[in-house]
Amino acid sequence: MANRQFEGKVALVTGAAGGIGRAAALAFAVEGARIAVADIHPDGAATAEAIRAAGGDAFFIRTDVTVDAEVAAMVAQTVQRYGRIDCAFNNAGIEEESKPLADADEALFDRIMAVNVKGAWLCMKHEIRQMLAQGGGAIVNTASVAGLVGAPLQPIYAASKHAVVGMTKTAAAEYGRAGIRINSVCPGVIRTPMLERALAREPRREKGIVKVHPIGRIGEAEEIAAAALWLCSDAASFVTGHQLAADGGLTAV
Ligand code: NAI
Repeated sequence: MANRQFEGKVALVTGAAGGIGRAAALAFAVEGARIAVADIHPDGAATAEAIRAAGGDAFFIRTDVTVDAEVAAMVAQTVQRYGRIDCAFNNAGIEEESKPLADADEALFDRIMAVNVKGAWLCMKHEIRQMLAQGGGAIVNTASVAGLVGAPLQPIYAASKHAVVGMTKTAAAEYGRAGIRINSVCPGVIRTPMLERALAREPRREKGIVKVHPIGRIGEAEEIAAAALWLCSDAASFVTGHQLAADGGLTAV
């Protein structure tokens, strides 16, 4: 097919078993990329299978992004199979059950920081080494509106996503001259398995969630995938160190 945006390119997507990551993997494939689908959950295999069934090229790498050796292997296997990594979407993350700061416990803090912060750092570390070797690339990290403003009852999650924003800005400054662009996408509330779990715990939250988005609805995973693809694309060639709020206006008011 002619004129596909990522024809001949290789994309690596973490957290791609479901939600935003799965939507992004499918969207990259529609635009012609070959995809390394990474997730700790075995359902990542179904994302890769769906891409292949539609005529694309993808494979699944079971990866825990909190483990250095597994992230190194994820990058190595992608390069072994496809030769390079043009686009990396570091999207794996976990949420926090609603609780004020003084009620959260240490184990929860460590778990959220391990996945959301250490995971993003390890992914960037190994991807950047590959991108330096091949002469450039584009990285997008999934932060959140909770990386831009406070998030009452999600203090640790907010801290973790502010950390992702800080690493994104810093890494963009460090590697800009090496041809590596690094940005974050900051979703508002998006209808994914993560949200479904939260609503199953507290169904009454849905009305309030809709209300804080001036656009008047919850977002869809495909809308975040579109923002991530744009940040990875040549159309964003002068965009780096940026936090793209795809949030239905939540942080505008
Ligand atoms: P999700 O829970 O549907 O998907 C997250 C994926 O990450 C899952 O497939 C899970 O297996 C994977 N994952 C978790 N821990 C992992 C680990 N240690 N190693 C590898 N993979 C791991 O959630 P969703 O909503 O698609 O979230 C994707 C990203 O978007 C996350 O970083 C989340 O914090 C962020 N986000 C989500 C929002 C929402 O409203 N759904 C809002 C703002 C940000």
